[in-house]
Amino acid sequence: MSACNCQFVIFGATGDLASKKLLPALYHLQCAGRMPEAMRIVAFGRRPWDDAAWQAFLRQELESYASGFHPEHFDAFCQHFHYVQGELHDPESYGKLSALLTREGAERPDDTTFYLAIRPGEFVPVVQQLSAAGFNRDSGSHRIVIEKPFGDDLESAIQLNEQLHRHFNEDQIYRIDHYLGKEIVQNLIAFRFANLPIESVWNRNYIDHVQITVAEDFGIENRAGYYDQAGALRDMLQNHLMQILTLVAMEPPPSLEADALRDEKVKVLRSIRPIPKTAIHAYAMRAQYGPGQVNGKHVPGYQNEPGVEANSVTETYVAAKFYIDNWRWRGVPFYLRTGKRLAAKTSSVAIRFRHTPQQLFRETSIEHIEPNWILLSLQPESLKIEIYVKEPGLEMRIRPIQLNASYRRDGEKELDAYEALLLDVMEGDRALFIRFDEVEWAWRAVDPILKAWSRETDYISTYPAGSWGPEEASRIMDQEDQYWRSIF
Ligand code: BG6
Repeated sequence: MSACNCQFVIFGATGDLASKKLLPALYHLQCAGRMPEAMRIVAFGRRPWDDAAWQAFLRQELESYASGFHPEHFDAFCQHFHYVQGELHDPESYGKLSALLTREGAERPDDTTFYLAIRPGEFVPVVQQLSAAGFNRDSGSHRIVIEKPFGDDLESAIQLNEQLHRHFNEDQIYRIDHYLGKEIVQNLIAFRFANLPIESVWNRNYIDHVQITVAEDFGIENRAGYYDQAGALRDMLQNHLMQILTLVAMEPPPSLEADALRDEKVKVLRSIRPIPKTAIHAYAMRAQYGPGQVNGKHVPGYQNEPGVEANSVTETYVAAKFYIDNWRWRGVPFYLRTGKRLAAKTSSVAIRFRHTPQQLFRETSIEHIEPNWILLSLQPESLKIEIYVKEPGLEMRIRPIQLNASYRRDGEKELDAYEALLLDVMEGDRALFIRFDEVEWAWRAVDPILKAWSRETDYISTYPAGSWGPEEASRIMDQEDQYWRSIF
C-alpha cells in the first residue's frame, strides 16, 4: 500500500450512502487487515457530536449494515476516526478541518482524500470551500471522490466538470460508478482477453446481438425526491449499463493502466451511432410500474409511492438500442434494459451468436434452431455457455445444454464493490473510476432520448409490478426472432 493517501474525510458521514456503503466497506477492510494503520478518517457531519457520540452511531450503523460485527475489530476501527461537526457552507468548519489534517510543525495538511457523500447539488460549493481552505491542485495531491449523477444531461455535466476543474486536475477527481467495483463486471475483461477462443469470436462476424439487463425487484425506497426527477435512463442506463456496454465492446487495451483502459472505453462511446431524432421510438421505450405483486407481496404503483408527484411520467423502466459503428461491431444491436419492481433482482450480459450457416441435424429450418448463447450473470454470479450436443439414442438429433461454470472456489468471499473501490482510491489507482470524457460521451448517446421524452409529458405506459416489464419492450428489436432472454 505504498501510495496510500492516509487521510480520508467523509462529507455526509451521517447520511444514507455512508451508513449503507462507505462505513461498512471501510470496516470490512479493517477486518480483512487491509486498512492502512496510519489511516486517519474524519467524519464530517452537522450533528453536534463528540467522538464518543460518533462511535455510538458508528456501532449502530455497522450492526445494521456490515456483514458481521466483531467488537475487537470495532475498537481498532474506531481508533482511525475523528468526528468534526461542521456546516458544508461555513468557512470556519473548513478551518477546523484543515487544522486537524495538518500535522504538528507542518506548514500545510498532508495529502487528503475527500469523499463527497452528499447531494450532487453540494459538490461545487464544497469543492469551492475546500479550495479556499487550501485543499486544491496547488497544495498537494489531494483527491476528491464523487458519486453519480454527474450532471443531469450533457450540458449540466459539462458545467459541473468545468467548475470542478477550476480547483482540481482531472487525475485528482475520482468519479465512482460502483458497478465497476463488482468483481464479475471486471471479469468481463478477463473473460474476453485471457481466452483466445472467446475473443476470436467476439465480433460482428459471429455475434448477432448483445443484451444488457439490470433488473431490480425493489421500488424507489425512500428516494422519491431524487428519483422522480431522474428516472431510470439517468439513474441507471446512462452510467451503469453504459459502463457494462463499454467493457463488452472495447478493443483490448495495451495495458490495464487507468488511461489505457479508459481510452478504449471512450472510443466505444464515441463510436455509438447518434439516435436519429425522428426515430426515437424505434430505439427507446419507457414505462412505469403500476401496482402488482412482488415476491408474493402486494405493492403500490409508482404514482402512489410517497413523495412522487401526481401524474408523474417519470420512467421506472427503460429499454434502448445502440449501434456501435466500428469495424468490430457495425450492424450488431446492443439492447439495454433496466427497471424497478421487476420480477427479480438480476444483472446480466447475454450474447447471442449468429445461426450456423447449415443445419444438418433436423428437418426443421435453421431459423427454428436457437443459436448459441453466452450468459454472463453479474447478480447472482454465474457464467453459462449454451451449446448443442447429440441426443443419446439411435437418431442423429441434437439438443442444447448449458456449460455452467462456477468460478468462485469454496471459501472465496464476494467483495462488496465499495471495498474494492475505496482501496483503489487509497492506493491512487484510477482504472475503475470514470474519466470525464466517458461521462460526456455517455450523455451524448442518451441525450436525444432525454430530449424527446422531455417533450412527451402527458402519457407513459405501465407494467405490473412483479412482471418482467412492458411487453412493448421487444418493439425496439430488429428481428422477429430476437427476444429478451432470461438468464434463469
Ligand atoms: C444506484 C441507483 O446507482 O444503483 C439505484 O441509484 C440502484 O437506483 C442501485 O438501485 C443498484 O445498485 P446494485 O449494486 O444494488 O445493483
